[in-house]
Amino acid sequence: MLYTYLLALHSLVRWFVLLALVTGIIAGYRGWLGKKPFTSRSNFLRHSIATVAHIQLVLGVWLYFVSPVIAYFLHNFKDAVHNRQIRFFGMEHSLMMLVAIVLITIGSAAAKRKPTDKAKFKTMAIWFTIALLVLLSSIPWPFSPLVSRPWLRF
Ligand code: HEM
Repeated sequence: MLYTYLLALHSLVRWFVLLALVTGIIAGYRGWLGKKPFTSRSNFLRHSIATVAHIQLVLGVWLYFVSPVIAYFLHNFKDAVHNRQIRFFGMEHSLMMLVAIVLITIGSAAAKRKPTDKAKFKTMAIWFTIALLVLLSSIPWPFSPLVSRPWLRF
């Protein structure tokens, strides 16, 4: 029951993470290249991205503890590690998403500390772009050949 809700929520929050990140990247490049002032709105956006990513991190780790897929992976490690679909969630997805969230956290914290507005935007643009690429590559999309999951779960 909890698992079903968590999985649906984790699937939904993915879209908030992606939306926030894309908005932040656009703002980052526009601010950097267009030499715009780093306003309190820009700072709110920077902070929101890290917050949404951390919410997804909590959901993901929680899911890791309740998912039957992960339970199977951990209890039958020797066999399960050769099963690409199960290993994807047991290792690849979880590790790559952790990396992406660390990149978002570093980018956000580094941008905050930069002395100039241009440097703040530039830091956001670069770190968030790399994080987005990692995220996009490790989400189980409906069209992913290896592990296909729905666009949204109800
Ligand atoms: C921004 C980061 C993340 C995004 C965008 C994301 C996205 C997703 C998506 C779309 C699914 C498929 C949901 C479905 O079946 O409908 C999923 C499943 C899952 N994710 Fe994540 N995830 C993220 C981070 C994490 C992290 C950090 C962990 C664990 C450390 C994690 C663990 C899992 C697990 C265990 C499953 C489900 C396995 C099962 O089917 O039981 N995720 N994730």
